[in-house]
Amino acid sequence: MSDRQKVWVSQPLFDDIVARLHDHFDVTQVAEVTNHTPEATAAALREVDGVLVTLNERVGAAEIAEASKLRAVCNLGVGYNNLDIAALHAQGIVATNTPDVLTETTADFGFALMMAAARRVTEAEHHLRAGKWQGWNFKGLLGADLHGSTLGILGMGRIGQGIAKRASGFDMRVLYHNRSRLPADIERDCKASWVDFDTLFAEADHLVLVLPYSAANHHIVDAAALAKMQPTATLTNIARGGIVDEAALADALANGRLASAALDVFEGEPVVDPRLLALDNIVLTPHVASGSLATRRAMVGLAVDNLIAALGEGPDAGNPPTPIAGIKDAKRPGTA
Ligand code: DGY
Repeated sequence: MSDRQKVWVSQPLFDDIVARLHDHFDVTQVAEVTNHTPEATAAALREVDGVLVTLNERVGAAEIAEASKLRAVCNLGVGYNNLDIAALHAQGIVATNTPDVLTETTADFGFALMMAAARRVTEAEHHLRAGKWQGWNFKGLLGADLHGSTLGILGMGRIGQGIAKRASGFDMRVLYHNRSRLPADIERDCKASWVDFDTLFAEADHLVLVLPYSAANHHIVDAAALAKMQPTATLTNIARGGIVDEAALADALANGRLASAALDVFEGEPVVDPRLLALDNIVLTPHVASGSLATRRAMVGLAVDNLIAALGEGPDAGNPPTPIAGIKDAKRPGTA
């Protein structure tokens, strides 16, 4: 029997990059895109020393309860609300994510969604494909301008800052709200001004959500927050579905209290609330904001580096490049 460490790769990725794992470990790779049940994830984790997982797999206390060998959980994504970091760290398991490599690609897509919502791009396409275009209609499908308007960004981390920088090419005024105000030099670089939550919602012509999800901000965009927005405004969410109360959003869009929205993330992914599906004034995409080929390859490369290092192999043994905070307290390879 091999004495090499065992790893599980939960979804099909890029074989040429995953091949680097084979140099160090016995690899079990799932061949088809799979919605693993919590029981199936737990069963896979029981057998291995480390895993590469995606946002599809929840890894919490229940899933690791019998994973006595598990020492590393490497997430393919910058967001890691699918992991219970406290539970992992309590068992001395290293957790990592993939920041930075996806920043610009995700900011590009956030901007694209915002433009699509403002200018009703998908609605116009559906209109055409449905054979409803009867001739040039001067007053048909009128949208809202981006140039010269006010962009609001809720959550001004790396991706939020990327969106702000793109906005200066459109001569937009940029407001943001974050728990903590950014240093003055970053605000200057982004040409962005901090405002409180209520002001952000009231003044944004186009509001983009880019904040990390946590229990504390569950449904932070609820009926009361939406009511603060202008009826001509748009809302774009590339963060996590749980940040928005989807029923309240569907209501606001249906009743003309908000002009349009664009969502790349949903509370019950991959299930989308039928009230959202029924609306014309919303752009819906299946969580693809980081999905350029180059970036998805970079994410896999970084996650593979993390897994190799976290399991004490390769040139960075014991020092994965992008650990999730709190790792200092976690058990490292070769320590008790
Ligand atoms: C992330 O990395 O958190 C993204 O949502 C994945 O596309």
